[in-house]
Amino acid sequence: MKGLITAGGSGTRLRPITHTSAKQLVPIANKPILFYGIEDMVAAGIDEIGIVIGDTGDEIRAAAGDGSRWGIEITYLPQEAPLGLAHCVLIAREFLGDEDFVMYLGDNMLESGIAELVDVFEGARDPSRSPRPGEEVTAPVAQILLHEVDDPTQMGVAAFDSKGNIGRLVEKPRDPPSNLALVGIYLFDATIHEAVRAIKPSGRGELEITDAIQWLIDEGHSVRHEVLEGWWIDTGKKDPLLDCNRLVLEKIEPRVDGAVDEGSQLDGRVVIEAGAQIVGSTVRGPAIIGERTKVINSYIGPFTSIYHDCSISDSEVEHSVVLEQSTIAGIRRVVDSLVGRQVEVRHSEAKPKALRLELGDHSRVEVG
Ligand code: DAU
Repeated sequence: MKGLITAGGSGTRLRPITHTSAKQLVPIANKPILFYGIEDMVAAGIDEIGIVIGDTGDEIRAAAGDGSRWGIEITYLPQEAPLGLAHCVLIAREFLGDEDFVMYLGDNMLESGIAELVDVFEGARDPSRSPRPGEEVTAPVAQILLHEVDDPTQMGVAAFDSKGNIGRLVEKPRDPPSNLALVGIYLFDATIHEAVRAIKPSGRGELEITDAIQWLIDEGHSVRHEVLEGWWIDTGKKDPLLDCNRLVLEKIEPRVDGAVDEGSQLDGRVVIEAGAQIVGSTVRGPAIIGERTKVINSYIGPFTSIYHDCSISDSEVEHSVVLEQSTIAGIRRVVDSLVGRQVEVRHSEAKPKALRLELGDHSRVEVG
């Protein structure tokens, strides 16, 4: 079984953070989102992964490298434009050969990993392994994963037939037929290559993977589904990204590799990475402070990740993600925020007393 991760695309929903950089590299608990997908695949026994890349490809190559750090082989698959998830399969044809594969959308994260999903799919395709009770005997050519969501209008959505099988899949429906959304993790055999060649671009001009799976169903192939327990997050927007950061931080193992002075206090699950300095400050976990970051006379509250080489002084930061080389000085207080790289947020005594802003396109500021 091979792995295919899609890490191209334009990331308009997370802008301005992703105007210039890859949304799949935004850190969750100080680790790029993309790495969680790679590690889920490695844990499922997959050692050959293809990563689809677009404009931000250089950055992704630099971050993930050749895969040797995970003991696997990574092949990069440049896509000329984000022409759709089925287009990603189309351009990965040579890399995938005729093998079964897991496709993992590079901005998705899930609690449970994928090892069990891979095992169940392989079991259902293997005539020598007895199917689960009530399981169809026809070998499935694909397996999709569904999760109940409150608002499925921005997702692929499944509708079932009277026998409880998947009858129809619709992409971003205005009027969803159910509240079961398609999670961005799919298992396929080589039949999908016929499907991606057969479909036409959707209304938004993309070759949709949802339409390719619908083609499989319409052609009479068996498509299994699993309903996901545990959390799943499409990290494409700020608030789900902060939720995801919170959920991952809740499970981190506390560790102090940096320096914490006597005037500082660490409460609960706190990770202080190598070279970080905590001076006269309180860090209340779950929280993580990145390599070489300085936290001085400040309070870092729960569910906060401060990435590498940042400086936080005379400030309070809670339920936020701060990317590398950013400075927050003299600010009480920052909450529910996503702060990009090399950002400066400073208190100023200059008159008139006012906000002085220098913001990128699509930035958003809420003043309390
Ligand atoms: O997150 C789950 C949803 O993902 C599913 O419910 C939908 O059925 C599925 O179509 C997909 O919808 P999105 O609109 O959220 O996909 P997005 O455009 O955000 O792309 C997902 C990832 O794949 C993202 O990391 C960018 C990358 N990508 C996307 C396209 C369209 C590529 O690498 N190439 C592409 O052409």
